Amino acid sequence: MRITTNTAKLSTIKKGLIVCGVTEKKDLKTGKFFSELNDLSGGELLSLSKEDSFTGKAKSKLVWRSKSVKGVSQYFVCFGLGKEKDINLESVREFAGLCMREAETLKQESVMISLEGFEGLNVHDVGQAVAEGIELTAYSYTRYKKSKRHVVKSVVIAVATSSDKDTKNGVKLGQFNAGGVNLARELVDTPGGHMHPSELVSAAKRIAATSPRISIKVYNKTELKKLGAGGLLGVSQGSKHDPALVHLVYKPQKKAKKKIAVVGKAVTFDSGGLSLKPADAMMNMKIDMAGSAAVIGVFARLAKIGVDYEVHGIFGACENSVSADAIRPGDVITVMNGKTIEVLNTDAEGRLTLADTLTFATRQKPDMIIDMATLTGACLVALGEEISGVMANKKEVATEILEAAKEAGENMWELPLEARYVNQIKSDIADYKNIGGRYGGTLTAGLFLEPFVNKIPWAHIDIAGPCYAEKPLASYIGKGATGHGVRTILRLLSK
Ligand code: BES
Ligand code: ZN
Ligand code: ZN
Repeated sequence: MRITTNTAKLSTIKKGLIVCGVTEKKDLKTGKFFSELNDLSGGELLSLSKEDSFTGKAKSKLVWRSKSVKGVSQYFVCFGLGKEKDINLESVREFAGLCMREAETLKQESVMISLEGFEGLNVHDVGQAVAEGIELTAYSYTRYKKSKRHVVKSVVIAVATSSDKDTKNGVKLGQFNAGGVNLARELVDTPGGHMHPSELVSAAKRIAATSPRISIKVYNKTELKKLGAGGLLGVSQGSKHDPALVHLVYKPQKKAKKKIAVVGKAVTFDSGGLSLKPADAMMNMKIDMAGSAAVIGVFARLAKIGVDYEVHGIFGACENSVSADAIRPGDVITVMNGKTIEVLNTDAEGRLTLADTLTFATRQKPDMIIDMATLTGACLVALGEEISGVMANKKEVATEILEAAKEAGENMWELPLEARYVNQIKSDIADYKNIGGRYGGTLTAGLFLEPFVNKIPWAHIDIAGPCYAEKPLASYIGKGATGHGVRTILRLLSK
């Protein structure tokens, strides 16, 4: 998408769509941009607002259309932004989404957006949020569709001259952030039949190839055997597709402040294995690599705009399939750190792969580990479809993540890493078993992961719900993969 900023006079624009946000107020004319639009409409915009009782209330809309000149019309659309005190960066993203949807409905290739109403927020952040909103709205998964949806080609942001530079920088960052998110969505939306471990590896390699600051090492099946990655090997035992462990490293120009490892669950399709999932539960299981997609999305942005941290991106790609060779309920495996696990349910496979990849992460000696995983259906029961669960072995780590999530506009909530339940995952015949009791499944999964991070400050984000939207999440995130996690991690890394 082409996004430019413009400080020119509105009267020079004779066609197309111009959108303006309006905060709730008695006299709409106090808005400078609105007043200009009103003048251009010959006062019709204001009369229309009175007729429609449009006062800028949240979720309200006002549309004015000029008489067509040579078959071309001009549209002015105002969206109510609600009360000034309630306006935040999420309002900006939401507004950008509405602008884009309107442009699509009106079949406009280009749209001009005013940032009036957001003066109370940081100019750079507003630029970033508006660009994120624009680019995220423009995403759609079209690989298998002949008829593509109408897409807006360019957006002009109307700004005051004084804030032009900050807005521009914010816009650039927002565009690259959204690029990372949209890449993650693309990977997640791709069906399991076209997204095997090797495709995830290629996606990571493609990103690494675009930046001299990013290196990549891939461990194949033979090397995984040498590493003793019994989790990845066990889970993929029933699949035709070999597992692979991917290790991306981003190094900043200057000496790194700290080293952070970001780990993602990367099960390219989760049938459940011999503990087969019921048909309905299996339907969407192409999403089970969303954690790794988020890792790749983060690196896509790091390739464009770096951060001061050294960042390690790690995922163990595999498929959880069924065959005569598949791992059986009751089998015992030995994972990378030498611990043994009794696999009582082959559908609790994510934690087995993470036992290896988290162990691998600790060997990079990071100052902090964050993992993102579509780990438990129980997290959907606990927090619903739109909020992910954060569990951490140090309070400060959870706090940092929740703060970054809030600023980035992603919904996360802390869940306890509650030691009292740890006996549920002790096995009679091995060090651990891979399932707990009937209740608190997200917590026992988190507890299962804990020993593999070796006391390094760590947070686990269960993204099972919000990585995929069954219905549109916001004006700017439609149905399908959401790229959840990318923006939070990027926000965290920019601190
Ligand atoms: N990939 C699933 C979790 C999942 C469920 C993600 C729904 C997204 C949406 C995971 O591997 C799984 O199957 N977990 C089991 C664990 C159980 C067997 C202890 C679950 O949640 O039922
Ligand atoms: Zn599973
Ligand atoms: Zn799974």
